[in-house]
Amino acid sequence: SRISTKQLLLNAEKGGYAIGAFNVYNLEGVEAVVAAAEAENSPAILQIHPSALKQGGVPLVVSCIAAAEQSSVPITVHYDHGTSKSDLLQALEMGFDSVMVDGSHLTLGENILYTKIVSSLAHAKGLLVEAELGRLSGSEDGLTVEEYEARFTDVAQAEGFIDETSIDALAVCIGNVHGKYPPSGPNLKLDLLKDLRALTLKKGVSLVLHGASGLPHELVQECIDLGVRKFNVNTEVRNSYLESLKKSGKDLIQVMSSAKEAMKAVVAEKLHLFGSAGKA
Ligand code: G3H
Ligand code: 13P
Ligand code: ZN
Ligand code: NA
Repeated sequence: SRISTKQLLLNAEKGGYAIGAFNVYNLEGVEAVVAAAEAENSPAILQIHPSALKQGGVPLVVSCIAAAEQSSVPITVHYDHGTSKSDLLQALEMGFDSVMVDGSHLTLGENILYTKIVSSLAHAKGLLVEAELGRLSGSEDGLTVEEYEARFTDVAQAEGFIDETSIDALAVCIGNVHGKYPPSGPNLKLDLLKDLRALTLKKGVSLVLHGASGLPHELVQECIDLGVRKFNVNTEVRNSYLESLKKSGKDLIQVMSSAKEAMKAVVAEKLHLFGSAGKA
């Protein structure tokens, strides 16, 4: 069933768990996420990155919406990393339940202005708004942010940012990385997360952590305990699809169904890890 992303995150806050938001690119991905969520009796978010939307177009969004409406568990459809205002304005007309306004490439002042403008338009349509303060390093769908450009989220700035923009969810940068973590493993600033949680709890804003692929189980649990309510997962699911394709033969239906099963297994594991299994 389709409910609002706001409600999903409120339920997660109440239950002390997190919602998995999984990037999808095609029908197999959509079906894999929904099948995993149904199998685990878990809520989940289908999210579409602008690059995926350019490729899949309206049919990709419509597939997500239909899959959400027909699922036996709560599913919502989210627009990920809206770095361009014109793309976001289009996304607002497409039927998404929530959007990420991503001004993390801008200066603080520009980010506030950009987020504030788009946030008010999205709110007028009843959509939940996520925004990012600070900047993640790493690589996603062709866009790479070097480590020296990465910035941690500043707590004092975050307070002003939330007040000015009226966002519902804040994506924070505490050492989390898009794509792979270095061989030494992730190095998350949990003290910073604790301070950000105190702030967002006070403001009624949900904490979001991008770059969840590659985070070990214990660390994910610590982040949930410290208040993270949405994890974005892309790389691990995408890689399971690609690995499956490499191993596949020539029967297209078989290729597609193996790829879907591979993604479903990864998603199901994440739903367990996030504590949302059994919470539908
Ligand atoms: O991606 C950048 C935005 O389009 C800038 O928007 O003109 O509201 O600052 P703005
Ligand atoms: P990963 O690719 O590291 O899982 O990050 C996903 C993400 O943040 C999507 O917005
Ligand atoms: Zn992200
Ligand atoms: Na990652």
